[in-house]
Amino acid sequence: MVLSIDRWFGKVAIVTGASSGIGAATAEKLVGHGLQVVGIARRKDRLEALAKKLTGKKGKFHPMTGDVTKEQDILNVFDWTRKNLGPCQILINNAGIICNSAIIGGKTEDWLQTINVNVVALCTATREALKDMMDNNLEGHIININSIAGHYILPGPNLEIYTATKHCVTSLTESMRKEMGRLQKKIKFTSISPGVVATEILARAPSDLSIDISINLQAEDIADAIEYVLSTPPRVQIHELMIRPTGDQI
Ligand SMILES: NC(=O)c1ccc[n+]([C@@H]2O[C@H](COP(=O)([O-])OP(=O)(O)OC[C@H]3O[C@@H](n4cnc5c(N)ncnc54)[C@H](OP(=O)(O)O)[C@@H]3O)[C@@H](O)[C@H]2O)c1
Repeated sequence: MVLSIDRWFGKVAIVTGASSGIGAATAEKLVGHGLQVVGIARRKDRLEALAKKLTGKKGKFHPMTGDVTKEQDILNVFDWTRKNLGPCQILINNAGIICNSAIIGGKTEDWLQTINVNVVALCTATREALKDMMDNNLEGHIININSIAGHYILPGPNLEIYTATKHCVTSLTESMRKEMGRLQKKIKFTSISPGVVATEILARAPSDLSIDISINLQAEDIADAIEYVLSTPPRVQIHELMIRPTGDQI
């Protein structure tokens, strides 16, 4: 298998949650390879700082402030992208949050927010990206940033809702892969499932997590994995890629 990311040069990628962590590292990686990358997140200052940092690289970073729990914000990003750059050919569904509320004593609003960011927004962005890819007969690629929590039930209290949302991501990725096969579309679906990654999400995690987060990956490791799956030839679909830090006992 010959790996090359060159066929994506100049193509349009949309990255949700591009203001920090895995999303920011991925945007940086793709811009470095000459892609036009549209990044959506709520923190305007962080997106603009990233755009400034990436000025002069082979590709370009286009910051778009928005909240992925608001459908209209996602639609605006896709509309702007279609009009200004062309159809989306790569979607990185990365925006995600950890729920700080357990089932016992938890708050419904926290559960809903987590489900809306981790699942509903992913579905909305996927629907819009597929519209671009199918209307234009593109060989697209949709990459869902999942988690080991999408495959195993993590230990400890407080992670029930997060784990449930990531199991949804596993299920949705598999369903959509089959749907593309049924429709005979050359659109790849990939789930990337990291173990602990040292990003800001950990600071917002419940304080009584029974997980050793000192054994961790870096955001760049996941961006490298994304580069790898994008670099595979059109006939090869990496459907699931689980990445754990060495020494992990989860
Ligand atoms: N770090 C880990 O250990 C780990 C492990 C497995 C999987 N993951 C997954 O990796 C993905 C990225 O997380 P990360 O670790 O890189 O954490 P992070 O640094 O906290 O990044 C999360 C991103 O999601 C965005 N986001 C959150 N809510 C949003 C909303 N309502 N609207 C728009 N954007 C929103 C944040 O941007 P704003 O706050 O600016 O909106 C931020 O850019 C998540 O899906 C997470 O579940 C992480």
